[in-house]
Amino acid sequence: MVQRRFPPVSSVATMPFLLLLAFLTSAIHGQAASPEVGTVQILGFKYAGDGCPPGSAEGEVSDDGHAITVMFSRYTASTDAGLDGRRKTCTVTVNLSYPPGFRFHLGTVTTRGYAKLDAGVTATAQTSYYIAGEPGTARAKHVIDGPFDGDFEFTDEFTDEFNVLPYSKCNVIRDLNLRSELRAGAGLITGRSDDLRLTQEFSIIWESC
Ligand SMILES: *[C@@H]1O[C@H](CO)[C@@H](O)[C@H](O)[C@H]1NC(C)=O
Repeated sequence: MVQRRFPPVSSVATMPFLLLLAFLTSAIHGQAASPEVGTVQILGFKYAGDGCPPGSAEGEVSDDGHAITVMFSRYTASTDAGLDGRRKTCTVTVNLSYPPGFRFHLGTVTTRGYAKLDAGVTATAQTSYYIAGEPGTARAKHVIDGPFDGDFEFTDEFTDEFNVLPYSKCNVIRDLNLRSELRAGAGLITGRSDDLRLTQEFSIIWESC
């Protein structure tokens, strides 16, 4: 039979101190502050660009409010269709609602799709975001080197030239703009082989304000 163990007296005495330390550490970093589950919602979702014709994009936000996923069903850059097809873009505009007392920036973008490239050529996925009325544009860029033939998934961090990522304004909801660009040097970059979708998942980093 397993006996229930109680901590020795000394560790009971240090416990309040450790809890206090944990609390102070999280307070100093301004973290541990995220909106409650279910309170972050997409109220408006628009998109425009030759990479996302009408009816070809959808967006959703995770229950915990930590990720926005955008799914494209017709985003293809390809040299098969001549030079016009080798570069495609899409700008998605999201009206994200969230409780007062929080602000956010985006952390990373994870892009999933399919590419087919000959040796010596590259495809590029470049993504940027900005918040209407706020300074700065942050970018994330990924280059796929040929030869390549298959599904890909990569995660890139957003950075901007001043090392200050664009933040949403405290207690004011402004449009969040997500701009992507796919380029194929010679070959194809498009949706995945199983569901034919190109998806981008954006991580949302919250803090209280
Ligand atoms: C977001 O949607 C809400 C509700 O429809 C609206 O009141 C607000 O003006 C919208 N914000 C932007 C930036 O479009």
